[in-house]
Formats: sequence, C-alpha cells, structure tokens
Amino acid sequence: MVNAIAQHEQGAAAPPETGAAAPAGPAPALPPSCGPISAQVLGTLFGDGPPAGWCALVETVGDPLTDLDFQLGLWLSYEPHYADLPGLDRDPEWDPALLSLRAALEERFERALRDLVGELPTGDPVAVLRRLTGSGRPSPLALHLGRDASREQFIDYLAQRAVYHLRESDPQSFTLPRVTGAAKTALAELQYDEYGAGRPERLHSRLYANALTALDLPADVHDYLPGVEATVFTTVNTMSFFALHRSLRGAAMGHLAAFEATSSLPCRLIATGAHRLGLPPAVAAYFEEHVEADSVHEQVAIDDICGALVRAEPLLGPDVVFGAAACLAVDELAAQAFWARWNADPEPTGEAAS
Ligand SMILES: [Fe+2]
Ligand SMILES: [Fe+2]
Repeated sequence: MVNAIAQHEQGAAAPPETGAAAPAGPAPALPPSCGPISAQVLGTLFGDGPPAGWCALVETVGDPLTDLDFQLGLWLSYEPHYADLPGLDRDPEWDPALLSLRAALEERFERALRDLVGELPTGDPVAVLRRLTGSGRPSPLALHLGRDASREQFIDYLAQRAVYHLRESDPQSFTLPRVTGAAKTALAELQYDEYGAGRPERLHSRLYANALTALDLPADVHDYLPGVEATVFTTVNTMSFFALHRSLRGAAMGHLAAFEATSSLPCRLIATGAHRLGLPPAVAAYFEEHVEADSVHEQVAIDDICGALVRAEPLLGPDVVFGAAACLAVDELAAQAFWARWNADPEPTGEAAS
C-alpha cells in the first residue's frame, strides 16, 4: 500500500491498486490518490488551500459516478466527518478550503445522479416507493452469491462492501436532527436496531467486522481503500451527500427506504452462499441478522419514516422518490462493477421470482 503522506510530499499520484483487499497488517495509511482530483483533495486535507481552476478540473470528468479519481476525492472530503484519517495531524473537518472543494464536487455529483435516474415517477410517494422496490425478485448479484460465486468472489464482495458496512448506518444518523416528529421517532427506532438495540456486540458494523476478522481480513475501513471500485465509493458517497445536506433530507430518507426494502431477500441468499462455501459462521451471521431485521426496517422506513415525512412536509415528496431511485440506480452501477471484476454475466432472475 502506498503511503499517501510520502506521496503528498512528493506531489506524485500513484495508479490505483486493484483486486482483493489488503491482508491484515499494521496501521493503515491514507489511500493513494489516483488522479488530479483525489490528489488535490488530499493536498487540502493536509492544509493546502483550494487550488486554482478547481471547478474547471471537476468539469473535465466524463462520468463522475464511475470515475475513481472523482469518487475517491469525494469520499476523502467526507471522511473527516466520520473518522480521523491515518497520518493526518490536523483537523480538516470544517476547513473552508475543504468545504469549498467539496461543494464543487457535490454540485457535479448531484447533476450526475439526477441525470442517471431521469424523470421521476409521480404520485403518492409511499406508493411510488413500494412500486420501485416491490419487484419481489432478488438481484442477479445476490442470486450469484447465493448459488454460484466462488470463495474468492464472495470474499471479494465482502471486502469491497466493507467501506460501507464497517460504518453501517452512520451516514443516516446525520439526518436525525434534520427531520421532526413521527419521522424522527421512527428513524431513531430503526437506527437503534442498526446500532445493536442496546448491545454493543450487536452493532451491525461490529457484526460485519466479525465476519471480516473470521476471514483474516482487516476491520479498519482505511485498509480497504486502495482496491475499492469507483461505483462502490459512489454508493457510500450518495448516502453521505444526502445525509449531510438538510435540504436533501427527503432524499436521504427515500434512499434509506429503498436500501432497507431491497435487503432482506438478498441477505437470505447471501447467507445461503456463505454456508454453501463453508465460510466461518460469523459471515452468514451478519446476513442472517438482516433477513428478519430488514423486513421490519422496510416497513418502518417506507411507512413510518417516509410516510410521516411527506405528511409533515409534502413538498419533500419528489426528493423522497429521487433518493430511492438514486439508491437503486447506484446499486446497479456497483453490481455491474462486480460482474466486470469477475468476468461474469448477470443471471436472469425470472426463474427465481416464481
Ligand atoms: Fe444493518
Ligand atoms: Fe436495516
């Protein structure tokens, strides 16, 4: 793994590493930048001012949703809200230069997300959420993990997804003070479950760390960064972007509803895959925890959170739908990246739906 501090001092950008996650080892380093955008964000984290021509540079990116440099840069710009970056001896969380850089990335990011989802369905937002998420068909990726994935593919999936699940539910917590009344109570109820329902050993992020540790993989997000796919960063950045902007609280909650409503059945399939491959019990345990929990969370998120939110603030309805559509669309982009990594094609899902 390239030490980003040394790299920053040298002003060099290293190519991204690919493949499975780094093995467990000593303390992680900052990730290597992989292009001009992530290099500039790293520089700003270290105290450089905003670079000249930043907005023009951001506009040169073809598709920000699939561009690793763009997504790593955006991820790095959010990271001070979640954790200390290894090797960084200053606190950049509210550094105006960093916020200025991030604002340009976010403006471009939101445009790309809205382009991706296109025209939004109209009507009662709760009914639209049910339509968007209610196919009853598992995703081809979950089917593959359940039935056919090799041990290497399965572990690669776990390692890629670590960048979210080791922080599971943390982005959505930023939304809690941004909603009120019944929506706030329901969101707190859902988050209470995600955070272990009073038992630290049952934190969902802890359960995921247990699964990784059982496979001799590291349990620190920073260890995984050099190999994370652009679109996996996109799924995480979408959550941070929505949750950290009060004006997008509707999108944050619509995203949560789509996320929870499309989790239970895939988790059952993936748990089956863990058993099929003879992986340590902690792996299946993480997914089994979500089979029942997320079938409940689906109702809480759609009816109790989003339903209450749009009753209290009807003007947020289109944002709720936008957040849900964005969740499903970026998840599909990430799924395509997994098929590409594994040189495989999605399986048809028709037979599984019957
Ligand atoms: Fe969870
Ligand atoms: Fe959940």
